[in-house]
Amino acid sequence: NPELGDIIKSHLKSYADFPHSGILFRDFSPLLASGEPFAKLIAGLADHYRGEINAVAGLESRGFILSAPLAVALEIPMIMVRKAGKLPGDILRESYDLEYGSASIEVQPDTVAGLDKILVIDDLLATGGTAEASVKLLEKAGGKVVEILVLMELQALHGKDVLGDIPYHALLEL
Ligand code: PRP
Ligand code: MG
Repeated sequence: NPELGDIIKSHLKSYADFPHSGILFRDFSPLLASGEPFAKLIAGLADHYRGEINAVAGLESRGFILSAPLAVALEIPMIMVRKAGKLPGDILRESYDLEYGSASIEVQPDTVAGLDKILVIDDLLATGGTAEASVKLLEKAGGKVVEILVLMELQALHGKDVLGDIPYHALLEL
C-alpha cells in the first residue's frame, strides 16, 4: 500500500550528524505526534495483516510503539524483544555484531510458545543485524516468523541482504 509509505514520508524529520558526525538521523516523532495520520497507518497495517498473522513482535524501543497498537487493533498477542538485562524470569538471548562491539537481545520464551505466524516490526532497517537476530531469537523460543516489517529502510546499508529467505517489507525506502 503506497499510501502508507507516503504517510511516513510526509511525517519524517531528518537530522544531519546525529547521534554521530556523518549520520543522517531519520526521526519519526512527527508521525507519532500527527494524530490521525498515525492512526491511519496503524489501521492500514491492521487491514493488511488481519488473518495473516497471530502475533506481533516489537523490537525495543521504537518497534514497541508500532507493535502495541497493531496488536490491540488485531486483538492478538504482542511479544517484547528487549535489549539485554531488562526481562525477568526464564529468558533466551541472541547476540549480534555491531560496527564496534556487539549487542544482545532477549525474549521470554513463554510469550512466544505456539505462535506460528509472527510479524516482526521495527521502525528502521539499517544493517539488518537487529532484525536478523530477532528472527533467530524468536525461532529459538519456538515461534515462527512469517514476515519482517519496517517503516523505513536505509538502502545504502544493504540490511535486506542479511535477512535471507524471510519475507521482508519496508514501507519507505530511503
Ligand atoms: C535502531 C532502530 C532499529 C535498529 C536498526 O534502534 O530503531 O531498531 O537501530 O539497526 P540495524 O538494522 O543496524 O540493526 P536503536 O538501537 O538505535 O534504539 P531504539 O530503537 O531503542 O531507539
Ligand atoms: Mg530500535
